[in-house]
Amino acid sequence: MAETKPVRLAVAGAGLIGSKHARLIATLSGCHLVGIADVDASRDAAGQLGVPFYLDVETLIERESPDGLIVATPNGTHALIAELCAKRSVHVLIEKPIAASLHEADQIVDAAERNQVQVLVGHHRRYNPLVQETRSIVQSGELGRLVAVSMMWALLKPAEYYEAEWRCRRPDGGPALINLIHEFDSLRFICGEIREVYAQSSCATRKLGVEDSLSIALSFANGALGSIVASDATPSPWSYEAATGENPHYFHAEENCYYFLGSLGSLAFPRMEMWRYANNGPSGWQHPLEKSRCEITKSDPLVAQLQHFCRVVRGEELPLIDAREGRRSLAVALAVLESIERQQPVPLSSV
Ligand SMILES: NC(=O)c1ccc[n+]([C@@H]2O[C@H](COP(=O)([O-])OP(=O)(O)OC[C@H]3O[C@@H](n4cnc5c(N)ncnc54)[C@H](O)[C@@H]3O)[C@@H](O)[C@H]2O)c1
Repeated sequence: MAETKPVRLAVAGAGLIGSKHARLIATLSGCHLVGIADVDASRDAAGQLGVPFYLDVETLIERESPDGLIVATPNGTHALIAELCAKRSVHVLIEKPIAASLHEADQIVDAAERNQVQVLVGHHRRYNPLVQETRSIVQSGELGRLVAVSMMWALLKPAEYYEAEWRCRRPDGGPALINLIHEFDSLRFICGEIREVYAQSSCATRKLGVEDSLSIALSFANGALGSIVASDATPSPWSYEAATGENPHYFHAEENCYYFLGSLGSLAFPRMEMWRYANNGPSGWQHPLEKSRCEITKSDPLVAQLQHFCRVVRGEELPLIDAREGRRSLAVALAVLESIERQQPVPLSSV
């Protein structure tokens, strides 16, 4: 049988996540790292990986002709790079959020459709078996009708994190766009579309040009309610990163950080603890709840995402999270920022 040719991949942006993607491509079978581009020459991680390094994406594409490219640059640069790739028929995996504005997200959708290239948006948590199992439990009705969901995302970012200037200012920076976009996307994936958001924020701890803490009330199209408390300025074990241990770079604490509440039972994530009354037993607050736990085999979602991207580039699969889907999750993050600005609830029906 003929062997499948490795997919030729390149990376734009050799920072925190781009260098991780590059290392992953270099080690995974089925793909081949052909080059890295970064506007900052001091980011030349390419030498260590034995591939060419370029100071601009255009020259990288011209010289190396990749089949696909991972966009791991600041949010506000995603649209320009994606359009460049689309014109050269290069498929893209764009890190989340898809862009910094809905207008830029629309430019990506248009460019991809016009040039018939595929766009996969890097909401990698959707490939995590814990997230997939949670979605399946919630959507199967095992918890009954979804009543509410409560999420906590709280941790302390190290001081050097904010040395990158783009993270400290709009339009690209701030935890709503950089971090909570993951929570918004997971909520949409697990619970369904979000109908309205009402949010408050504070920058009182870090005193930067972007929020460090948020409190967000949400309602879903299916009638469920939700709340998120978030902060990147507090030592806490209650974040997706700490609780799931998905990324070994983070401190791992075996805690829960999300709670899904249904009319028949509740689920704590990521320990996957389900609380219900005994089968055919009496219900009501005076009766004991039984706790069960489902065991999930863990796997690295970034690897699963990259394998999926390779199949997308080969034309074997369509993107699981395409540009329009990425745009919907971005719309939630932007509605949260708009709600903070206007001090009013913001509906999402029109996006
Ligand atoms: N999926 C995840 O879990 C995850 C984690 C971190 C970051 N991200 C996303 O990845 C993107 C990058 O974030 P980061 O934390 O790695 O940022 P970073 O600041 O660490 O790295 C960004 C790099 O892009 C380079 N760059 C800037 N403009 C460029 C251009 N036009 N062409 C080429 N290179 C350019 C910078 O010099 C820098 O080296 C953001 O969109 C962010 O939201 C995703």
